[in-house]
Amino acid sequence: MDYIRYHFEEIQSTNDFAKEKAKTEENNFIVTAAFQSNGRGRKGRSFFSPKGSGLYLSIGVKLDISPDKITNITTYTAVCVAKALENLTGLKVDIKWVNDLYVNGKKLCGILTEGIFKDSKLDFAIIGIGINILKTSFPEELQSIATSIETECNKKLAQDAVIDEILKCLGNFEMNDYMEEYKRRSFIIGKEITVLAPDKTYLAKVLDIDNEGYLIIERNGKKEILSSGDVSIRK
Ligand code: BTN
Repeated sequence: MDYIRYHFEEIQSTNDFAKEKAKTEENNFIVTAAFQSNGRGRKGRSFFSPKGSGLYLSIGVKLDISPDKITNITTYTAVCVAKALENLTGLKVDIKWVNDLYVNGKKLCGILTEGIFKDSKLDFAIIGIGINILKTSFPEELQSIATSIETECNKKLAQDAVIDEILKCLGNFEMNDYMEEYKRRSFIIGKEITVLAPDKTYLAKVLDIDNEGYLIIERNGKKEILSSGDVSIRK
């Protein structure tokens, strides 16, 4: 796939720019920035985006798929970015359902997929990918849970090499037969977890992840399906 490229030294959020751009753009495009002043994560959280040490990338891609496949775009991207980083570093990259990549138990990358719709059809998918590439001083609350590629393997990867490898792995977004690999990399299958729902917190066991990318859990002896949400592993 070909992409028009936009780069900024500083921007609020590459996803916000991409969402605006998608309103008038006909072609696929990517947006990168050296620094994001308001990098966004899922559920309105912020994504720590210091200058120069991370890759802040949004991919705007026209996909002719039904809007309810947005979760598949996230899970497919997670597999492709994991593969891309593994190809470049040799590190073992794991997936934490649904959109986070981990190395050695710490978060390395987050993915935020947003849809632009026209006549209730998906027009553009905006796939935001934030990867901690170089060593950086994380704020205190992230120090024990976040890491970077350089910290884990001492390599200072060039951003363009990472972008090219990710785009190569994403290919034409065929999204066939990738769920087995998603599950292989997922470290919460079979684990006891705490589910942090908007209105309550409860304990459950993860049985599986289905082809839609939904989490199949057992709670009080009954099977339930979670389409989104936050989970943490019980220690
Ligand atoms: C998460 O951890 O919940 C997802 C983080 C996604 C961060 C990326 S960085 C590039 C793009 N622009 C944003 O504002 N967010 C995404």
